[in-house]
Amino acid sequence: MEQTQNNNTTERRKRVFSAIKPTGNPTLGNYLGAMRYWGGMADEQDCLYSVADLHAITVAIEPKELRENSKRLFALLIAVGIDPQKCIVFMQSHVRAHAELAWLLNNYTMFGEARRMTQFKDKSEKAPENVNVGLFDYPVLMAADILLYQADEVPVGEDQIQHVELCRTIAQRFNNRYGQTFTVPEGRVPKTGARIYSLSDPTSKMGKSDANDAGSVFILDTPETIMRKFKRAVTDCDACVRACADKPGITNLLTIYSALNDISLDAAEREFASADYATFKTRVGEAAVEKLRPVREAYERLRKNDAELAELMREGAQKAERIACRTLEKAYKKIGFVRV
Ligand code: TRP
Repeated sequence: MEQTQNNNTTERRKRVFSAIKPTGNPTLGNYLGAMRYWGGMADEQDCLYSVADLHAITVAIEPKELRENSKRLFALLIAVGIDPQKCIVFMQSHVRAHAELAWLLNNYTMFGEARRMTQFKDKSEKAPENVNVGLFDYPVLMAADILLYQADEVPVGEDQIQHVELCRTIAQRFNNRYGQTFTVPEGRVPKTGARIYSLSDPTSKMGKSDANDAGSVFILDTPETIMRKFKRAVTDCDACVRACADKPGITNLLTIYSALNDISLDAAEREFASADYATFKTRVGEAAVEKLRPVREAYERLRKNDAELAELMREGAQKAERIACRTLEKAYKKIGFVRV
């Protein structure tokens, strides 16, 4: 985190914050749409990436699963190319300031605002037996994540934009009341953040929470599994590899192929102009296998050494904490808490 002091104004590089929840198993969709860009952003910006483990308990999760998912995701962030020397990578629960600031921000968030959140409504409908207060408060904790680091930009999926908007509202309300305290962040959906759909149901998103779903390719799947999933991907009954609205399966596979190879959808279409479906699906599968191979290998190296992983977590948390505590302290003081 480089900062240059300049009279009274602080000139700094843009700061980026994002996080992923350790629920389920990260997919090719998570990789292509988000994770693969995160490492590269660190060349021009100061980046912080977090495993949002505190967010993972808003829906029921077994302790063992939470533990394993969290370690796996942390290692995976590094395996996809986030360099812990250039970025700050950390576990959200290792920096206590997140929970503390969330409490403060609760008091500047209106009930009605939180109640309007689409994700809250969706999740409440899906699990009516567990509509807990944490689920309701989820976006406020997310606002705390972002505001603690004075982030300028928050790369997220489309579905999280509403939460970033709420974060802006909270930040502005706080700043208006107490004076400039938080940077008001902008949500960014990556342009090339291809939206990847399920291979078995190309009208719904490739989900990370259904471990048995043949429609989801997981970043850590073996080459054999990846190939099997692609070969069984749903297509349609005409036999022409073309992207269009009434061919969601083929369009999805073309989107995946173009994202994997960083080429346009048109170029991908041209490549398969005379291919049959079986050949096409095999080629997309092979492209995915090759792209994910180095990621899986890097991941496996990291997971061999728990002590090293723990050390990386400690270092990340320490760096994050320095920034987070400064903001938290500022917020406490502005509100009028006695600090000694
Ligand atoms: N809610 C985000 C998701 O489900 C994860 C997340 C938690 C997050 N805190 C964040 C994303 C802060 C961006 C910034 O994907």
